[in-house]
Amino acid sequence: MNKSELIKEYEGFRSLGLKLDMSRGKPSAEQVSTVEKLLTAVTSNAQCFSETGSDCRNYGGLDGINEMKRLFGELLGVGPEQIIVGGNSSLNLMYDTVARSMLHPVEDGCKPWSKYDRISFLCPVPGYDRHFAICEYFDINMINIPINDQGPDMDMIESLVASDETIKGVWCVPKYANPTGISYSDNTVRRFARLRPKAKDFRVFWDNAYVLHDLTDTPDEVLEIFSEAKKYGNEDMFFEFMSTSKITYPGSGISCIASSERNIKRILEALKIQTIGHDKMNQLRHSKIFHCYEDVAKQMRVHMNIIRPKFQAVYDAFAAAFEGIEGVSWTKPNGGYFITLTLPNGTAKRTVELCREAGLVITPAGAMFPYGIDPDDSKLRIAPTYPLLDEVKIAAKLLACCANIAICEKQA
Ligand SMILES: Cc1ncc(COP(=O)(O)O)c(C=O)c1O
Repeated sequence: MNKSELIKEYEGFRSLGLKLDMSRGKPSAEQVSTVEKLLTAVTSNAQCFSETGSDCRNYGGLDGINEMKRLFGELLGVGPEQIIVGGNSSLNLMYDTVARSMLHPVEDGCKPWSKYDRISFLCPVPGYDRHFAICEYFDINMINIPINDQGPDMDMIESLVASDETIKGVWCVPKYANPTGISYSDNTVRRFARLRPKAKDFRVFWDNAYVLHDLTDTPDEVLEIFSEAKKYGNEDMFFEFMSTSKITYPGSGISCIASSERNIKRILEALKIQTIGHDKMNQLRHSKIFHCYEDVAKQMRVHMNIIRPKFQAVYDAFAAAFEGIEGVSWTKPNGGYFITLTLPNGTAKRTVELCREAGLVITPAGAMFPYGIDPDDSKLRIAPTYPLLDEVKIAAKLLACCANIAICEKQA
């Protein structure tokens, strides 16, 4: 299509008075309705007891009920003794872990991170905006690390952490990363497992938010990090996170942190100051509908069947609209919640603007980069899960139309 045809198409979209939102990776109403049995998993006083007989309505159980620790252990491939069950948000646990590290030493003989003039985190990009927001909130300097189809640039990570003692952390989403959808290769996981950082209190934030969130029948497999790290005596270097936000309810699921037994002990020492325990009734409800890995896997297949057509609708719209357009590509991940659209440099922001004017909200260009700055202004994050399928079809066509207009304008 030439520019005037594109503008005509765009005006057609504008006249529809659309109100579409593809900005955040949220499960749809249909998805959250698939676990109605959770709402009635516990219906009487007699059912409020965990397997050890503890009363889940009452105080106690700082690390969570056994059933839930065992289930998370199974989902992540670690022992229950490596798990602390949290509240409804793993992001909350990540925030707390950074906050604790700012205020108290992460390791014996080290000082709290806040006692340094300046500390840095390595940030594989494009990445999850809320990871970067945590760093910004705590005034932690962020260093961009490029990602390829195997994971982050490990040469760069190895050399930076080996030489700079003020680098204290790295954000990782090892499976179906937000927003690229890539999964770490075995080699990448092993290189993380054997990192030799200069800082004794360097930590890897292994955010396994999409560990079970497959979109194909040939899912990616990622090595379990603690068994790899143990081979190098490095298991204390990892904090792993996950939640049931995109398994049951984002607003009322269960999260966990997994780490070495030594770290878990250390975290519990601090956690007991913070709370007497998280919501055990919700843990109990979850453990009553999910007894083992296969129960959760079954639920994930239900999600997959709802989500998959929405991803396909985006691929179809993009394939039709971008045929023969140079410098445009998009990811087709085997799982996760996002598609990353790469446009010619200098066109992403303008595309978002055009979308907004026509009633489609997408994630702001730059949001997937530290400080909101995409140096190339070329990446867009597409989150197709929340709208209805018919809405996704329209939104993807509109988005592609806007991108093509932005490309024409740039070339003019
Ligand atoms: C990589 C990643 N981590 C964490 C979260 C949020 O997790 P939670 O709902 O457990 O706080 C998200 C949500 O989009 C995410 O994409």
